[in-house]
Amino acid sequence: ASLAELDTTVPAPNRQQDRTKPAEASPVDAFENTPDTDPSLPANRVWGRDILTRVAESRLGDDTVAASILDSVEALDAVIDGATAAGASWGSLSGAERAVILHRAGDVLERRRADLMEVMASETGKTLDQSDPEVSEAIDFAHYYAERARELDHVDGATFTPAKLTVVTPPWNFPVAIPAGSTLAALAAGSPVIIKPARQARRSGAVMIEALWEAGVPREVLRFAQLADNSLGERLIAHPAVERVILTGGYETAELFRSFRPELPLLAETSGKNAIIVTPSADLDLAVKDVVASAFGHAGQKCSAASLVILVGSVASSRRFRHQLVDAVTSLKVGYPVDPTTQMGPIIEPAKGKLLGGLTTLGSGESWLVEPKQLDDSGKLWSPGVRAGVARGSEYHLTEYFGPILGIMTAETLEEAIAIQNEIDYGLTAGLHSLNPAELRLWLDGIQAGNLYVNRGITGAIVQRQPFGGWKKSAVGAGTKAGGPNYLIGLGSWTSAESTA
Ligand code: SER
Repeated sequence: ASLAELDTTVPAPNRQQDRTKPAEASPVDAFENTPDTDPSLPANRVWGRDILTRVAESRLGDDTVAASILDSVEALDAVIDGATAAGASWGSLSGAERAVILHRAGDVLERRRADLMEVMASETGKTLDQSDPEVSEAIDFAHYYAERARELDHVDGATFTPAKLTVVTPPWNFPVAIPAGSTLAALAAGSPVIIKPARQARRSGAVMIEALWEAGVPREVLRFAQLADNSLGERLIAHPAVERVILTGGYETAELFRSFRPELPLLAETSGKNAIIVTPSADLDLAVKDVVASAFGHAGQKCSAASLVILVGSVASSRRFRHQLVDAVTSLKVGYPVDPTTQMGPIIEPAKGKLLGGLTTLGSGESWLVEPKQLDDSGKLWSPGVRAGVARGSEYHLTEYFGPILGIMTAETLEEAIAIQNEIDYGLTAGLHSLNPAELRLWLDGIQAGNLYVNRGITGAIVQRQPFGGWKKSAVGAGTKAGGPNYLIGLGSWTSAESTA
């Protein structure tokens, strides 16, 4: 990357300020990022509290979920055959025709913003400040891929043939934006889609899909399928009609899918173990704020989350950064999303296995700067933890935990800090806090990660501005970036005009 290519984030235009008014239609023929809800407007705070009153009793998505269970080989095959057959007419629409439906999908998602936030809070414990930008991202994917679909109509010298069928297997941690992005991309490319939602987030996926159906995506072309057992999952992945699988999940899941079918055309966004490096030239106040938001937003349950902060030189030896970090972390209000003052919500399921170990056990030479505490009997509510003294090559240095834990490492030089990050097998996001252009240059040239952020948090990639995708073990298969200009071209095959003439 060159300095000129760096993202210079400007605020999204505030097209729709007051959420209590009917949403404006999006601009057609153009892409514009959708603004998040502005909580400084009193009307929006009322709107947000209103969502919270519905969370405890929420039934959204239930009917769609109940109708989606496939419990036999025959039922699964019928869905595969039906989607493949219906996909032929979907794929024969021009990109411009599909774009009209996708733009409409963006508008329906906007109209259902409150429903989507309600179901995410109810099902996955997501706080409104996390779910609101997630809905914006889903809307952005709809409008962005709509415009990319049009471009497929105008490639000189080559013809694009969409995948006969695409399977989407999203995670639970972004239960709306990630399935929406994968699905809308495949639909934009002209492929029918079967989505298998994450077990913990079915209703969220269902409400998202209902929005796409309402916008005019035919139900036969977009299928929602819960599989009653794992053998059906294997059958689906291995089915010859399935020409693309878009997976967002653990690296092990990608390997499992490949074991079902070695030549599987897989676009997989997998695990991450991401660090923010803070050098002595950094604005330390900003660095603390960005580290805390990146480490503990959605209780750290993001593949993009900061799991490590690497302090360089005098930032490591002085007490200032650590002091401010402790203050910021211990003042986070932990609770359930129905309490509007909650800043960090629960983890998805009671902590167990590796995550429980990460919350309760220290490695050699480590100490708790902030010790995590289990706050109720559910096993899901934990206060955030910060471990100091994480050693190079240790378990915590190299492993993904996916929860509210941050580790501190130290380095004498920026070169050493970069080496510490690059020793990790994954390479998804990385952050640098520095105000020194020479350090920035060094870091850009040396760091091995797909998404690089400077003087910003490392979560919350914005469609078009920060196309999202990993490197090393954070990506498996075709490594194009979601929300970027080249994503659709990997969702089908190309023939050159000469070879067909
Ligand atoms: N796209 C999300 C982020 O940037 C992660 O999936 O945080």
